[in-house]
Parts: sequence; C-alpha cells; structure tokens
Amino acid sequence: MTSSLATVSYIGATILFILSLGGLAHPETARRGNLFGIAGMSIAVLATVFGPQVGMGGIPWIVIALVIGAAVGLYAAKKVQMTQMPELVALMHSLVGLAACLVGFASYVDTSVVFPTAAEKTIHEVEIYIGILIGAVTFSGSLVAFAKLSGKLGGKPLLLPARHWLNLAGLVLVILLGRWFLNTHSIWAGMALLLVMTVIALAFGVHMVMAIGGADMPVVVSMLNSYSGWAAAATGFMLGNDLLIVVGALVGSSGAILSYIMCRAMNRNFISVIAGGFGSGGGASVTAADGSEPAGEVTSISAVDTADLLRDAKNVVIVPGYGMAVAQAQHVVCEIVNVLRGQGVAVRFAIHPVAGRMPGHMNVLLAEAKVPYDIVLEMDEINEDFPDTDVAIVIGANDIVNPAAQEDPGSPIAGMPVLEVWKARTSIVMKRSMASGYAGVDNPLFYKENNRMLFGDARKMLDEVLGALSA
Ligand code: TAP
Repeated sequence: MTSSLATVSYIGATILFILSLGGLAHPETARRGNLFGIAGMSIAVLATVFGPQVGMGGIPWIVIALVIGAAVGLYAAKKVQMTQMPELVALMHSLVGLAACLVGFASYVDTSVVFPTAAEKTIHEVEIYIGILIGAVTFSGSLVAFAKLSGKLGGKPLLLPARHWLNLAGLVLVILLGRWFLNTHSIWAGMALLLVMTVIALAFGVHMVMAIGGADMPVVVSMLNSYSGWAAAATGFMLGNDLLIVVGALVGSSGAILSYIMCRAMNRNFISVIAGGFGSGGGASVTAADGSEPAGEVTSISAVDTADLLRDAKNVVIVPGYGMAVAQAQHVVCEIVNVLRGQGVAVRFAIHPVAGRMPGHMNVLLAEAKVPYDIVLEMDEINEDFPDTDVAIVIGANDIVNPAAQEDPGSPIAGMPVLEVWKARTSIVMKRSMASGYAGVDNPLFYKENNRMLFGDARKMLDEVLGALSA
C-alpha cells in the first residue's frame, strides 16, 4: 500500500471513529456507532499492516499476534457477565498502558532510526519518557481498579500518612530522572533511568487508585479510560503514527469529559480526581454496613400488595440499580411496564448517572429488554417530578436513592446528587436484605414512614408482582 493510500485510509478511519463516538452518545444510535467503530478499526488495522511502515517480514508476526489477541478478546467477550463489564474495561485499559511502556522501551533501544538533528532526538526521547510514564501509571492503576471492582481488593481507601507529599516527592523525582535521561549518552544509563522512573510510575498508579474509596470508583474507571487514551496518543508519537495520535486524543478527551460529567453527578471535584487520592469523604473511611445494626424500623410489603399499589397508581416511576442487573430482571420489568401502561398507568424510568457499575449500565439493560426510550429519563429530567408521583419503585438500587447524601453532611456520599424517591407518595425498595450498597453506607430511606421494603431477589419478586397484576 502506498503511503498516500495509507494516509487517506487513516483519515477515513478517523472520521469513522468520530462518527462512532457521536453514535455512542445515545442508546438509539449506539448500535450504529458500534458499527462505525468496527469499520474504522478494520480500516486502521489493514492500513497499518499493509502500510509503508511494516515490511513483508513483519506481517506473519502481526497475524500471529492478531489471532491470539482476537481469540482472547472473543473468549473474554463471550464469558463476561454484564455486571463484570467495568472490570473487563479496567483490565483492557491496563493493556493499553502496558503496550505504551513496551513500545517506549522498544523505541529507545531501536538504534536503526537516525535523527538528523539533536533537537529531533531529544523530542523523540521526551516522547518515550512521557509515553512510558503515562503507560506505567495507567497499567498499574488499571490493575488495582480491576482488583477493586472484582472484589479481590477491598473498597476501603488506603490512606498512607503524608500521601500527598509522597506523590509530590515521586513527581519531583520523575522530573529529575527525566532531566538526567535526556542528558545521558549511554543507552545502558538511559535504560536504567527509564526503569527507575517506570517503577516510580507503577507505584504512583497503585497508590493513586488504592487511595480511592469505593463510591468514587466509577470516576476512576473513566479517568483511567482517559489516561489509556493519552497513553495511546503517546505511543502514536513514539511510532510516528498519526492515526494513533488522533484516536488516542479522542479517547483521552472523551474519557476526561465523561470523568467530568461523573464528577458532577457524584459531587466530586474534578481537579482532585485528576490529582488522585480522593473519595475518602474528608478523611473518614467508608464504614462497612453489614446490616447487623438496623438504624430504625422498616415496613415490609408483599408482592401482591405491591401489585395493588401499582394498579391503583396514576403515576409510577421506576428506579433501577445494580441489583436489577444482578437479578437480570430487566425483561420482567418491561413486561410489568407494558401491563401497567395497558391499564392506563403512566410509567417512567429514572436513571441516575452512576446507577449500576458502569456509565449507561441501566440504559443498556433497558434497551436490551426493549423498553421504549421515551419513558427512560435522566435524573435531571425527572427528579422534580417525585412529589407528583404516586409510587416510586426502586429495583435493586441503594446509594443512588440515599437521602443521607442531602441530609447528613458527615456521610461519605454527602453532596452526591440522588434520586429523591422519598418525596413520592409511596416508595417501595426491592432488595434481598438490609445490606448496604456499593458505597457501604446505611440508607435512611428504608426507615421512612412512606417507604415499604419488598425483600427478595428482584427477578423473583417482580415475577410475583407480574403474576398478581395479570391475575
Ligand atoms: P448499589 O448502591 O450498589 O446497591 C445495589 C443494591 O442492589 C444492593 O444494596 C443490594 O442489596 C441490591 N441487590 C443486589 N443483588 C440483588 C438482587 N439479586 N435482587 C435484588 N436486589 C439486589 O447500586 P446503585 O444504587 O445502582 O448505585 C451504584 C453504586 O455503584 C454507586 O455507589 C456508584 O458510585 C457505584 N459504582 C457505579 C459505577 C457506575 S459508572 N455506574 C461503577 C462502579 C461503582 P441486597 O444485597 O440487600 O440485595
């Protein structure tokens, strides 16, 4: 392939990636967005493999790597549960970081490239240094995020004494090492300095994510997504690959925008997120609620009584959460909605930006169950309507409907915007026990006078509600 054809292909792939991002912004166009992304990536891979930068001798190696990578990817995609998606995403970010590190080291020891001027050599070394730095932070940070999200590590933040000073010392050391690195003329000394910097960057990545409390993990995942984009862009600079630079910048900036949106949704400060070491709720660690000390009286309700309340209501708002995903209850929820709408009840969904375990988690599940998009509303669109709602039914959600976020300034989730279901005439919370949600905090909603608890697995209980509604 000639270099001009490769350039045209890269421009085409870039346009497809931008269209893909645009499509992914809405459930209705997400499928099309995915197709654009697949087409863009196919063009990008073909133009790179058959482009001027790869000699014929390299193609068999690339094909072997592609086959192994595709097999692992296919296996992971088939095996992963919807609820494990964030872990998988975190693991994939770690691979981008690792790739940036490996490409950085390989570029440094590659003596075949001759730089016409000293300035160009320095620029290349700066690219290598920064690429490995971002890659190492992304790699170790993503692995810790994976361990935390999959429960292999606890959600409690690790708060080392003087942690900010430790981070600052690491930063100063990295800058000094970078200076020495640029001034060294021996490849061995350069490698040694790169390795020391990599170890510091790896430690920083671990420290940064370890210091983050469970409730703030979603922001970390999208922030690491952004870091992985910048790591890919840095790899593009090292390899002189324009497409990788553009795509890396797209991922980096869209991840940063998503982090910002999520910070707002969780009332966290974006700057402190970028700096790392956040989410500890002002220094207090998140308390693990195990339900052993009930903070009040709760009133239970049966599935049959729930069906009666729903049937008699004019307005119903459904708030889905992580538990709906665990129970895979979205299909029966959709059936209940159809029955209620058939009986003249106005039913809508209220979606919190961080409901579930990944951005858009609830939208994906509801779309899968073919719930009409026009009754699925974002938090800002529906929160004011709760006082006019007859029944708000919470399906496996907890933190996102916790009034402590507004009422208790000492709560680890204080200030996080929440869905105000307690303002409805009656709220019904469907969950299996009194256990806390992801943030590990007790929920005063359960003890409110107008709240009822429908205990049990969401799918089983909803099946019973549907049975009673249809009887
Ligand atoms: P959570 O606060 O985690 O609450 C989910 C509730 O579902 C639990 O209290 C659990 O109670 C219940 N549950 C679990 N399995 C169930 C089942 N089979 N049937 C019925 N109920 C079940 O979820 P949420 O309200 O959706 O809030 C999301 C939380 O996750 C936030 O703290 C958010 O910050 C965090 N988070 C979000 C993301 C993103 S990007 N969305 C990513 C990572 C973390 P029982 O055990 O008593 O049943």
